[in-house]
Amino acid sequence: MLNRRELNRAAFWLALSAWAVPLPVRAQEAPRWRADPFGLGVASGMPRPDSVLLWTRLAPPGEEVAERDARAPCKVRWEVFADEALRQRVAQGEQITHAGRAFSVHVQVNGLAPQRTYWYRFSCGDAVSRVGRARTAPAAGAPVRRLRLALASCQHYEYGYYVAHREIAGRDLDAVVFVGDYIYEGSINAANAQRRHDAPMPHGLDEYRARHALYKRDPDLQAAHAAHPWILTWDDHEVVNDYAADREPAPTGTEQFLRRRAAAYRAYFEHMPLALAPEGADMRIHDRFAWGDLADIWTLDCRQYRSHHACGDPQMSHGRMVTDCAQLADPARTMLGAAQERWLAEGLSASTARWKLLAQSTQVSSTSIEAPKGRQNWTDAWDGYPMARQRLLQGIADAKVHNVVALGGDVHRFVAADLRVVPNDAGSPVVASEFVGGSVTSRGASRAAMAKMQQDNADIAHARGDERGYALLDIDREAARCEFRATPHPAVKDAALSRQALFAVEAGRAGVVAG
Ligand SMILES: [Fe+2]
Repeated sequence: MLNRRELNRAAFWLALSAWAVPLPVRAQEAPRWRADPFGLGVASGMPRPDSVLLWTRLAPPGEEVAERDARAPCKVRWEVFADEALRQRVAQGEQITHAGRAFSVHVQVNGLAPQRTYWYRFSCGDAVSRVGRARTAPAAGAPVRRLRLALASCQHYEYGYYVAHREIAGRDLDAVVFVGDYIYEGSINAANAQRRHDAPMPHGLDEYRARHALYKRDPDLQAAHAAHPWILTWDDHEVVNDYAADREPAPTGTEQFLRRRAAAYRAYFEHMPLALAPEGADMRIHDRFAWGDLADIWTLDCRQYRSHHACGDPQMSHGRMVTDCAQLADPARTMLGAAQERWLAEGLSASTARWKLLAQSTQVSSTSIEAPKGRQNWTDAWDGYPMARQRLLQGIADAKVHNVVALGGDVHRFVAADLRVVPNDAGSPVVASEFVGGSVTSRGASRAAMAKMQQDNADIAHARGDERGYALLDIDREAARCEFRATPHPAVKDAALSRQALFAVEAGRAGVVAG
């Protein structure tokens, strides 16, 4: 028997995770739609050798008005085909969705063949979605010659258009790796805006849902989701700028901020091809994807478990430039949290894949700057967690893990860098490599600022913040090549991207070389 307190707690969790609630009402079998209810698109993700995760969300009630009770549950049918002409159906099923999950649909399709392309669609009543394309991962340990990925992040809606996604959609890729800032909570100065958010900053669940829906209505973003499976992690703006675990840059108080985080995480899940729903303010997003014997890809969570920002305000947490900050040297400070850090270290040393890719949300290499009063560190990126960075890189060195490449975002710049156990110390070995894939739209720093950063950080081979775009990774047994695809800031409607730079990491030799 549960006591009263346990019952209350159970009711609290049930209310928060509508996913677990059995449906008391019958779903509408065949609603008739006046407009396309699939206006937010379709997506696939979590590619495994025998499964993929399919996603859609029926349009929010009131926007695509249906001849139905707008709040009543709906039965959504899904189909998976082995051919583009949709003649060979290999799987199908139905899922009931409802207002408690924002009419989102998450279907894990099992029993698929490895390393294969599939096509899928959804239907509900008389409406049929566009056709999406998914791809399964190769069989565990299978010989794989090539892996092609797009690395993207930071797509502030107001700063410009998703021309990067338009190009990504047209490419032959295995997957898109998106490393955070999928939505932005805040708005920018009107003078810099190419287009505007349709609502003020979100705080509650419905507001975050509306923000995600606005982004998802973008046709280029929809096309990139429909074309490829996405492998996802998040950064800060999915909740609020610069948050760290249970604190944000305002003196909100832990309980209130965790309510906001719960709302933001839940809306995020409802809009992404991910399998694990949040439980209250907690959501497991870090994961590992294997691409046969060629690559293991870790998605890391650099927000939920990190220590509060160093040398900050006791009530708040946000990034800042610091010169003298003894706290930075505290070995107890963590970026990933103890459990994720251990899980990653164990996974890295056990991995037998040729390449080990760390998809994480920010920049690993140091960007500290020489200033008149001493060296300045930006505390929101890995420079704010130098001991955690050192543990990660020393662990890679000690376990002799070869061919580790960090893939990052957050900083709105294209970066190619060497990763040493002690940054910028020529006597410290280069043990891994890094590519940061720019930003889809979000504004970055000037060429002068990047030149200064490079001048002060010998490990950084390339840094450009004045252009927008994404990185194209082409990985085989010999090398991991990275092409930075870019257009000048801002990304305007019909912009075309071109090659900004090409770098590579040669197998067996840590560090980046010009391609
Ligand atoms: Fe960003």
